[in-house]
Amino acid sequence: MAKKWTPQGWRAKPIRQVPEYPDAAALADVERRLAGFPPLVFAGEARRLQAALAQVAGGRAFLLQGGDCAESFAEFHPDNIRDTFRVLLQMAVVLTFGAACPVVKVGRLAGQFAKPRSADVETQGDVTLPSYRGDMVNGMEFSAHARNPDPERLERAYNQSASTLNLLRAFAQGGYADLHKVHQWNLGFVADSPQGERYRDLADRLGEALAFMEACGLTSETAPQIRETDFFTSHEALLLPYEEAMTRVDSTTGDWYDTSAHLLWVGDRTRQMDGAHVEFLRGIANPVAMKVGPTMDEDDLVRLIDVLNPADEAGRLTLIVRMGADDVERRLPPLVRAVKRQGRTVVWTCDPMHGNTVKSSNGYKTRHFDGILAEVRGFFAVHKAEGTHAGGVHIEMTGQDVTECVGGAQAITEAGLADRYHTHCDPRLNAEQALELAFLISEALKEERVSERGRSAAAS
Ligand code: PEP
Ligand code: CO
Repeated sequence: MAKKWTPQGWRAKPIRQVPEYPDAAALADVERRLAGFPPLVFAGEARRLQAALAQVAGGRAFLLQGGDCAESFAEFHPDNIRDTFRVLLQMAVVLTFGAACPVVKVGRLAGQFAKPRSADVETQGDVTLPSYRGDMVNGMEFSAHARNPDPERLERAYNQSASTLNLLRAFAQGGYADLHKVHQWNLGFVADSPQGERYRDLADRLGEALAFMEACGLTSETAPQIRETDFFTSHEALLLPYEEAMTRVDSTTGDWYDTSAHLLWVGDRTRQMDGAHVEFLRGIANPVAMKVGPTMDEDDLVRLIDVLNPADEAGRLTLIVRMGADDVERRLPPLVRAVKRQGRTVVWTCDPMHGNTVKSSNGYKTRHFDGILAEVRGFFAVHKAEGTHAGGVHIEMTGQDVTECVGGAQAITEAGLADRYHTHCDPRLNAEQALELAFLISEALKEERVSERGRSAAAS
């Protein structure tokens, strides 16, 4: 029997990655205010996402989750939100049309502001200050004033999330996402690139299919699936005072929902079995996810699954695997087998970013596009061998023309990183690299479907 749960229960547990607020009363004051603010998402939407993720768990859909490593106050601009959304739509079309597979679209957006750090402090010269923990906590600038955790930032993050979400809802449902606009999503710097050309070909074919459907009577007016799309939000549930304040009882079911996002995940550094973050996540009724890095062993994984999804509900739990390109084919199979042995239902998704971070010779934190592709390929290979569904991908990306990850069709070099390196935390794929990745996944998914059909034909 699971122990009783309350939204505050995490406070009695050991916790990692917490900022030290100098003024506890000011923090409590902000928490009280937040608790009275409107929810950002509704419980019914979170349930709809869980139902969609249940399709992924059953091998009938694919999860596309992506966005910034860390959203920032400085880069808050409607064009940035639109561009990220647009690239996710482009990727989704490549996957849906290219691989004939429904895609569940989830942004790392509208709340992805708090970051775990490898060290609590940063030293420059003879000055040591608290590490930057995301705009929701403190400022990136290396000064005592900026690095001081400031609770007012929680409210600002809430407000930015609310307006981001408002725009995303408008984009998803107000006509921008209409499939007849596929060509128009290919604007900007990507249009003239090889990936842009490849995308244009696909959009042409999709246009023909839409014209055929229209002739059959299926138009944007008659079929809402053509006109609008479901788009969900997610972030790491790291800053628990914020998550607690946003957690409310759903009046229709009586269950607790964290209304800060549709899906919340626990990071690789805070997923201790008896820790505060797992305690918090186990009690909310939203779909949840957990990062699974190289230090995860089979026994811990099975125990954590028991805690986070005791009733084995399909779509409740997503495992975001981030092993690194060199390790995924060695470390993932025993975990997949352990989950299969226990008969547990999970979504397996691949984060090819966080296990592949390196330092360039000129001092930038970067990722090699080839390594990212290699981890995705390895992830698909493992699932093919184990007979399980490679259910999704979790990426850090932006619609902007940044130079943060090395390689890709534009062949960004280490020297080129300096040109447009804007991230507040980890290096992101730019729009073109993201699209290239989508084409690769689409091929892999097609292959998965072909071998599945082969298996079921052989069995019948
Ligand atoms: C992240 O997703 O930005 C992150 C910090 O990942 P992880 O917990 O896997 O290190
Ligand atoms: Co990151």
